[in-house]
Amino acid sequence: MASDMTAPILDALSSADGPILSSDAFPSTPSLTIKAALDRLASRSMVTYDTIDREVVVLTPEGEDIAANGSHEAKVFQAVAAALDGLKISDLPCIVGKDSAKVGQGNAFKRGWIKKDKDLLRPNTESIHDETKEQLQTIKETQTHPDAKVVADLKKRKLVTTQKAISFKISKGPKYARQFVKEETDLTAEMLADGSWKTASFKPYNFKAKGAPTPSGALHPLNKVRQEFRNIFFEMGFEEMPTNRFVETGFWNFDALFVPQQHPARDLQDTFYISDPAKADPPREDPPNNPHLKPAEKPRDYKEYWENVRQVHETGKYGSIGYRYPWSADESLRLLLRTHTTSVSTYMLHKLAANPRPARYFSIDRVFRNEAVDATHLAEFHQIEGVIADFGLTLGGLIGFMEVFFAKMGIHRLRFKPAYNPYTEPSMEIFGYHTGLGKWVEIGNSGMFRPEMLEPMGIPKDMRVYGWGLSLERPTMIKYGVSNIRDLLGHKVDLNFIETNPAVRLEKD
Ligand code: PHE
Repeated sequence: MASDMTAPILDALSSADGPILSSDAFPSTPSLTIKAALDRLASRSMVTYDTIDREVVVLTPEGEDIAANGSHEAKVFQAVAAALDGLKISDLPCIVGKDSAKVGQGNAFKRGWIKKDKDLLRPNTESIHDETKEQLQTIKETQTHPDAKVVADLKKRKLVTTQKAISFKISKGPKYARQFVKEETDLTAEMLADGSWKTASFKPYNFKAKGAPTPSGALHPLNKVRQEFRNIFFEMGFEEMPTNRFVETGFWNFDALFVPQQHPARDLQDTFYISDPAKADPPREDPPNNPHLKPAEKPRDYKEYWENVRQVHETGKYGSIGYRYPWSADESLRLLLRTHTTSVSTYMLHKLAANPRPARYFSIDRVFRNEAVDATHLAEFHQIEGVIADFGLTLGGLIGFMEVFFAKMGIHRLRFKPAYNPYTEPSMEIFGYHTGLGKWVEIGNSGMFRPEMLEPMGIPKDMRVYGWGLSLERPTMIKYGVSNIRDLLGHKVDLNFIETNPAVRLEKD
């Protein structure tokens, strides 16, 4: 290593009687280079050292010029002395330069070196003593001057500046030696075989060294925001619904929600249908030993439910006149990728109807829509969905609940806009004022489930159910400042972004 100073330092110490000063021994070596070597030597107790901060005086470019070529006034004197018949004042700048002429002429008069004879300059002395040049030369060699007044004066004249310099006072340490022996970092098989381990010197462990970062997995931002939402739901007494069914039937995704079979959302352009197998088996009664039923749950008669749904669509039932169209069983058995997690909520409400009681459920999982992909839309995204079933619920209660729910994620101003969903009445779009973005943003969709959806499954007439849904992507993009959804999800995602993004915190009240 060209810049390794360990050997020069050990050499310098061996020929010195006591401590050495790095600024004397190695005046032109950068202090960082010296310190690196000192730290290596000190870690083996070969040297000890103290750091000395001192102030050094260095020449400015103008000072350098004077140290080499003389002061302005000396230049003027020389020019005047060289002109045997006197020097015209107006010729001076051409000979010594404009700057030297201006400053030097006055100083040369002050020192009595030249005199004026009409418009001619003549020398007033045989020889001069150029003090400024000498002072600057001393400073250039020693980085200091014995007379502090001189330094102050030169500084005022902008010929020198002062700087901080670090130097080291170096002494021999308890384990000083002339040679810096390379220390072994590994005990090798060869060293054991040839016996060299007995005399080798081993490098001690450095317990202060930082460990290398271990590669590890990292949570995706969507997962972090999801966890924050889960915490809010758990705090508010919600149970998490099982959302592991990405493939659903038209029945659970649409028919059970009173979505007519001609509804545009059921078009191929909006929904991904499964081609193989394209259809589910028709519904049947729960077998008495259904392993999915909890001990307290009664087996359910899905055939009866399915028949109720057909009737409420086709002819009307439960006080509703229905849609009055021929309902197709095949359409309701078509397999598709669920377009919302309300299919899961419906399934859970149907289970609840077997034993109706107040309940709060939520889910956060993936849904699929056959949509054109752009900066804010993908063909799959995550929905956050909640349902509350209870007796005596009102629309005012839903609005009040939303205010509490969204306040928990730092959204305090809400607006509700009447909307339409086939399965809720009334329905409301929820807008929140985002202080960071400074505008109103749509944050969710909500409503009270219709009797045409609840009564076929056996929910009692006086039980009301709130439902609402929002996307997980939108708050995540806002939180992490991501403007293109494709930077968050999909094959173009920057893994470094995933590994280094911070934990999310929804501002709490
Ligand atoms: N399913 C609705 C959506 O996809 C959200 C919603 C759920 C609305 C429950 C009302 C009730 O936007």
